[in-house]
Amino acid sequence: MKKILFVASEGVPFIKTGGLADVVGSLPKYFDKRYFDARVILPKYMCMKQEMKDMMHYRAHFYMDFLGQDEYVGVLEAQYDGITYYFIDNEKYFNGFKPYGDNVVEEISKFVFFSKAALSILPVIDFRPDVVHCHDWQTGIIPVYLKERFAGGEFYRGMKSVMTIHNLKFQGVYDIKTVKNISGLDSSFFTPDKMAYFKDANLLKGGITYADAITTVSQTYAEEIKTAFYGEKLDGLLRARSKDLRGIVNGIDYSEYNPETDSYILHKYNAGNFRKEKIKNKRDLQRQLGLVENEKKMMIGIVSRLTDQKGMDLVAYIMDEMLSRDDIQLVVLGTGQEQYENMFRHFDWKYHGKVSANIYYSEELSHRIYASCDAFLMPSLFEPCGLSQLMSLRYGTIPIVRETGGLKDTVEPYNEYESKGTGFSFKNYNAHEMLATIRYAEKIYYDKKRDWNKIVDRAMAMDYSWKVSASKYQEMYDWLIG
Ligand code: ADP
Ligand code: GLC
Repeated sequence: MKKILFVASEGVPFIKTGGLADVVGSLPKYFDKRYFDARVILPKYMCMKQEMKDMMHYRAHFYMDFLGQDEYVGVLEAQYDGITYYFIDNEKYFNGFKPYGDNVVEEISKFVFFSKAALSILPVIDFRPDVVHCHDWQTGIIPVYLKERFAGGEFYRGMKSVMTIHNLKFQGVYDIKTVKNISGLDSSFFTPDKMAYFKDANLLKGGITYADAITTVSQTYAEEIKTAFYGEKLDGLLRARSKDLRGIVNGIDYSEYNPETDSYILHKYNAGNFRKEKIKNKRDLQRQLGLVENEKKMMIGIVSRLTDQKGMDLVAYIMDEMLSRDDIQLVVLGTGQEQYENMFRHFDWKYHGKVSANIYYSEELSHRIYASCDAFLMPSLFEPCGLSQLMSLRYGTIPIVRETGGLKDTVEPYNEYESKGTGFSFKNYNAHEMLATIRYAEKIYYDKKRDWNKIVDRAMAMDYSWKVSASKYQEMYDWLIG
């Protein structure tokens, strides 16, 4: 049996702020259980819902040297959907009303503590992974530790590590003196070929430098991050490590995102009956959100972090022009940068009945939007993979995307002459190119309804379950373990 350990800062259903949680909470279920024993370590955040905490039971505790003090490390355990989860408990580091805060030093201390604790609990829980699979900057120091302080012990010897980049934008950067102090690593680790990043220290860079293999979440993003535009100043290192870097596109949990069984939606449907049934969800959502009740109106959805990454400045730029005609409705669900939250609130007020801005987090409303809308807008500046467009495809809601990262790999542009395609896309990061694409989609929706429904047929027939991608991870583990 090959043993795989995921270490990550979030995972569904325990805690989620974005797509990372979806991946961590679903991918391990899709490994072949005859050959792989995959388990997950997460922090036990104070802000987790009580029902999640109720699923955990005490396993062990000990004290670990951290920042010159003996810090409490509690280990809790839960079983969920056939997967064993461990949680690191420490009230000082994992307090707060959100998993992530704004103070960089506190964030770095929190996740270095978490990373060190995650490795330290392994002998205690008697689980010796062949591969430690790390996700994003929060766990970037693990591959470094595995080659440093943990390398000496018999237990850890030969343990391999994988660093998966879900978002290269966030790297865990702070001045060398502070990171040296927090990590306990000596000066030799803070040179430009290791963790130094200009004048600072960079945890993700440590992970990329020391991991035995590196992955990211789509093939296009794997290529893009080797260029200066997308490389976030690590493109040189990524080019240098390109033979160990692979792009494996994300899947989604097909049991959770399934229009036929989804308990959040009132009218279930499938590829066979969506023409009659999907529209009923639109009517319900219009009523629920106070939009003009007209099932013929094309409804466009956005479920997103409202940030620059997601192309929200393009949307802001053309809102008035887009809504000047009376033929679309826009439903937004998201939180993020204040300027975008207020922008959508403003347009909700200005175009009441046509625009619905929901500035909060809601699992239920997100499912209803995926199920009810006709199209889904995702004009990202960069997108490592993107899961929202996969969810949209699954619900027959046609994505309108910019051709970048995983959006380019998963949405095939509609071609009206060859009757091909599952969505609409544009190339340049330009608001009017986006608007022209939205107008084109509107035209097909209103003037060629049969063609539109065929796009829906093709979208719903796509397979973005984990089947294929999970086997690619398995191949990589096999190759690493030998
Ligand atoms: P990212 O991880 O960059 O935010 P992804 O498309 O990979 O983008 O994943 C986003 C995930 O978060 C999806 O599951 C999406 O439905 C969900 N999501 C984003 N914002 C909200 C929100 N306000 N309420 C509910 N779910 C949300
Ligand atoms: C990141 C990326 C997103 C990706 C997700 C899961 O949050 O922004 O594109 O889908 O991670 O890998």
